[in-house]
Amino acid sequence: MKVSRRATFNAAHRLFRSDWTDEQNSQVFGKCSNPNYHGHNYVLEVWLEGDINPETGYVIDLKTVKDVINSEISDRFDHRNLNLDCPEFAELNPTAENIALVSWNLLRAKLPMHLALTIKLWETENNCVEYAGN
Ligand code: NI
Repeated sequence: MKVSRRATFNAAHRLFRSDWTDEQNSQVFGKCSNPNYHGHNYVLEVWLEGDINPETGYVIDLKTVKDVINSEISDRFDHRNLNLDCPEFAELNPTAENIALVSWNLLRAKLPMHLALTIKLWETENNCVEYAGN
């Protein structure tokens, strides 16, 4: 059985490599490399898979998942500049892929290990990445 909790956060970023010239960055990352940053309304889906607990009828109480998302993701990234405010991205390009990787690791550490964790991160209405730890 799979259960999911959804959360949204707003954050600014700039895609770039400090060891590339502005021209190279612009060629590879386009508008997302605008030096003055830009924002996204990210949508995070957190999926957990496991057996239904016969005692509760839950796979996991989704209130627990909500609290973990708030403390690990929203408090950390919401209304932040990912490049400047978040040490996780000081040396890591904040692509949707890397935000998903960082988020998965943060969530994995706080959610019950007997449940398989998959996350989906929507950066725009049309662009989404999925990560399950491999
Ligand atoms: Ni962007």
